[in-house]
Amino acid sequence: MARTFRISRRKALSLAGVSAAAGVGAGILAGRGTPEATATPADPDLLAYPFYGEHQAGIITPAQDRLHFAVFDVDAISRAELIGLLEDWTAAAARMSQGGSAGAFAPDAGPYEAPPEDTGEAMDLGPSGLTITFGFGPTLFTASDGTDRFGIAARRPRALTALPKFSGDMLEDRISGGDLCIQACADDPQVAVHAIRNLSRIAFGRASLRYSQLGFGRTSSTSTAQVTPRNLFGFKDGTANLKAEDPAAVEEHVWVAEGDDQAWMAGGSYLVSRKVRMNVEPWDRTRLSEQERSIGRTKGAGAPLSGGDEFTAPDFGMQGSGGRPIIEEHSHVRLAHPETNGGARMLRRGYNFVDGNDDLGRLDAGLFFICFQRDPERSFIPVQTRLAGSDILNEYIRHVGSALFAVPGGATEGSYVGARLFEA
Ligand code: HEM
Repeated sequence: MARTFRISRRKALSLAGVSAAAGVGAGILAGRGTPEATATPADPDLLAYPFYGEHQAGIITPAQDRLHFAVFDVDAISRAELIGLLEDWTAAAARMSQGGSAGAFAPDAGPYEAPPEDTGEAMDLGPSGLTITFGFGPTLFTASDGTDRFGIAARRPRALTALPKFSGDMLEDRISGGDLCIQACADDPQVAVHAIRNLSRIAFGRASLRYSQLGFGRTSSTSTAQVTPRNLFGFKDGTANLKAEDPAAVEEHVWVAEGDDQAWMAGGSYLVSRKVRMNVEPWDRTRLSEQERSIGRTKGAGAPLSGGDEFTAPDFGMQGSGGRPIIEEHSHVRLAHPETNGGARMLRRGYNFVDGNDDLGRLDAGLFFICFQRDPERSFIPVQTRLAGSDILNEYIRHVGSALFAVPGGATEGSYVGARLFEA
């Protein structure tokens, strides 16, 4: 765990012996492709995933309970300063994900007349499964005024362009786009917030926070070992997701391969984020039968309306009385299913959110949808085009934020996330 750090968070230090005995150790697997903890510690606060490896953690890592997602715009800095920021972010993220401090000094140490290097609110907390995942937006490569600020325009992957406008989109610029993103996920909300707060602080003078989103209650499982959670419509979400235990499918649909496009993206993925406002009040006044018809699954078990249990494959050919398909043509699962989309799949990793309420006393609630894929033009874009066109759910949801980021492969120790992008 955090033993290699000069000064780490108190709990990580005090429990070092316990976790070593339990065989829990991020360091044990560091450098391997799959970010997995070696064992589940008795105290979930102690769970730590390796930061370094072939792929960044936070993608096929079992989805944690909490999210703090942050998007930054890079200030007027040089290429060398941008690299310096990525180096600093990498070092801090590696430390924090193992339960260490953001800086070299603990929050209550370091020069007495200087501000502490770590803000301190996670001092008594363990790593709590923290993963920190970095992504690069299209405008990092070519700014909105067309300039190539960092000499990387020629290295922009073909797939990394602004997403098309989908039917019904009501996007707010303020919570869309951005040059850089950081997805911090943890099982303790304060650990996720602490990570983003300290990374923002490190960025000061080099990149500015454009927007950030808190999420609670994962809306997907990314491992077969996880129980399927529920979204704010009360339905199980994540049943038919890509799962880490299916490496062939993950290889095919999540990771960018060496020959796909730009060589520096090998081992990476593309992250799509969509802030989807859910009109929960009208939904809550909708009949159960209509709710199930909209989704195409039962509310309780999450089974397809064609029968079976949660993990039974839906039978889209099954007809009910009057020859109508039992799973409605415009139901969400039918429209999103790979069978309807030429085999397109993605790894969903979204979170519920409630940002208070609006002026009419309605909950400002929804789904902060996140998905990872090898090529958004073959996964998210065609599926969302179909959903935006005729999903029954559209009556109850509104997409208000949107972004696409290239997530490079994982960093090797001593290097930084995205280093291959800047290599000659
Ligand atoms: C508020 C918005 C949304 C809600 C409430 C929602 C809800 C659900 C639910 C309940 C399921 C069934 C359980 C499961 O297999 O996970 C599901 C499946 C799925 N959703 Fe969504 N979803 C939303 C938005 C989206 C978006 C934006 C996309 C991508 C464009 C998407 C893609 C999928 C896919 C690919 C499946 C699996 C379909 C299958 O293979 O059976 N969803 N969603």
